[in-house]
Amino acid sequence: MKSSHHDHNIPSTPGKFKPEKSNLYHRFRLHYSHPTKPTFWGFVFLCLIFIIFLNSSPSDQPLKTQSWGGSEWEKRVKSSSKIRSKSGFSVLVTGAAGFVGTHVSAALHHRGDGVLGLDNFNDYYDITLKRARQDLLQKSGIYILEGDINDAVLVKKLFEVVHFTHVMHLAAQAGVRYAMKNPKSYVHSNIDGFVNLLEICKSAEPQPAIVWASSSSVYGLNTKVPFSETDRTDQPASLYAATKKSGEEIAHAYNHIYGLSLTGLRFFTVYGPWGRPDMAYFLFTKNILKGKAIRVYESGDHGTVSRDFTYIDDIVKGCLGALDTAEKSTGSSGKKKGDAQFRVFNLGNTSPVSVSDLVSILEKLLKVKAKRRVMKLPRNGDVQFTHANISLAQRAFGYKPTTDLQTGLKKFVRWYEGYYGLRKKSHH
Ligand SMILES: NC(=O)c1ccc[n+]([C@@H]2O[C@H](COP(=O)([O-])OP(=O)(O)OC[C@H]3O[C@@H](n4cnc5c(N)ncnc54)[C@H](O)[C@@H]3O)[C@@H](O)[C@H]2O)c1
Ligand SMILES: *[C@@H]1O[C@H](CO)[C@@H](O)[C@H](O)[C@H]1NC(C)=O
Repeated sequence: MKSSHHDHNIPSTPGKFKPEKSNLYHRFRLHYSHPTKPTFWGFVFLCLIFIIFLNSSPSDQPLKTQSWGGSEWEKRVKSSSKIRSKSGFSVLVTGAAGFVGTHVSAALHHRGDGVLGLDNFNDYYDITLKRARQDLLQKSGIYILEGDINDAVLVKKLFEVVHFTHVMHLAAQAGVRYAMKNPKSYVHSNIDGFVNLLEICKSAEPQPAIVWASSSSVYGLNTKVPFSETDRTDQPASLYAATKKSGEEIAHAYNHIYGLSLTGLRFFTVYGPWGRPDMAYFLFTKNILKGKAIRVYESGDHGTVSRDFTYIDDIVKGCLGALDTAEKSTGSSGKKKGDAQFRVFNLGNTSPVSVSDLVSILEKLLKVKAKRRVMKLPRNGDVQFTHANISLAQRAFGYKPTTDLQTGLKKFVRWYEGYYGLRKKSHH
C-alpha cells in the first residue's frame, strides 16, 4: 500500500495548472515578505480566489493532461490489454479504480482476458481507497490509466493502440445526495462522459461491444415492486437517477443509429469488500465501531425503508454473463450495417432487507450495539424500497445470486477490520 503522504500529493483531477500553482505559492511568499505597495492585499485576495478556484469541485476543473504517450507507455497499455486465453476478450474497463470496476477487472484478468483500466481518481470519496485498489490490480499486472472519459484525445489514442473487443463502462458519478452539492459532476460523468465514450466507440475499427452500468434508481416514484425492466421509469427521484435514465436513452440512440451493441445493467445496492465509503452499510460499520450515532431512516408512516442488497461477487458474475452474451457491434466506418443488440437487465438479489435489519446484522457481526437515531426519510432522492425481478438476466445468461446479506456482510466486515486495522498499525 502506498503511504498516505504520497496520496495526498495527488490532486483530484490533476492538470496543467499544477506548476503554476506552486509558482503562485512561491510568488505569494515573496510578496508577503516585502509588502511595499498598497495593492499588495488586492493581489493576495486575487491569489486566494485563484487558489480556491484550483481546489474547487472536480467537474469544474479542466481535464487533466497528464503525461502519457511514448513507446514505453504504449507497451504498458498493450501488455495489460493482451488476451491470455483462447477466445478471450480485450476489455477497456472505465471506473476501474472504483468498487465494482476493481472486482470486475480482477475477475476478467483471472480468466485470461486482457484488461486496461481507466479512472480519473476523483475525490468524491477517499482517494486512498481508490489507490489501494489500483495497487491491488497492479500486482496482477492490470494497468489503470489515470484519465477522464471526457478526454477524447486520450480515449481515441487508447483505441488506436488496442483493438478492444469490449468496453465495460462503470465510470460514473454515483450517490444520490451528493447532487445537492455538486450537480454538474453527474452531467459531466454520466452524460457528457458517456456520450464522449460512445462517440469514440462508434468510430472505432472494429466497434467494440459495450456493457455499461445503469442503476436500480431508474425505477422512480411510480414503479410497482418487484421492478421489471419493462416497467415505467419516467419519474426519477434524483438527479443521479435522471442521468442514469438518460444514459439508457442515449445508449438506445447510439444502438439505433450506429449499430453499437449495448447492454445496460441496472445494479441494485451493491455491497462487499473494497466497497464504497459513502454507502449506508459502510458508514454504519464505521460509526458503530466508533460508538457514534447512526441515522436509520423510516418512511412517513413509520414504514420500513428497504433495499435489495446485492453482494459484489453476484454482480461480477452478472457483468461477465452480460459480456459473454454480448453480440458484436454491426457498424463500421461510423455507419450502421445492420441491427445490433440492445439489452437492459436488472442485477439484484430479489430479497429486500429493511435498513433496521441491516443494522441488526451489523451489530451482531461487530459485537457492538448501535446508537440508532430513527428519522424520516428525507425526500431528496432516496426511494422507500427497491426489489429486483431478475428473470430476464436469469434467462439470458443464467444469472442467479447466491449470497444472502448475512453472509455477504460477514465478508465485508472481515475485510473492513483487516484493511483499517492493518493500516492503523502501519501508521503508528
Ligand atoms: N455500488 C452500487 O450500489 C451501484 C448501484 C447502482 C449502480 N451503480 C453504478 O455502477 C457503477 C460502478 O459503481 P461503484 O459502486 O463501483 O462506484 P465507484 O464510485 O466506486 O466507481 C466509479 C469510478 O469511476 C471513476 N470516475 C467517475 N467519473 C469519471 C470520469 N469522468 N472519468 C473517469 N473515471 C471516472 C471514479 O473515480 C470511481 O473510481 C457506476 O456507474 C454506478 O453508478 C452502482
Ligand atoms: C418478471 O419479469 C418477467 C420478464 O420481464 C415478467 O414476464 C414477469 O411477469 C415479471 N414478474 C413479476 C412478478 O412481475
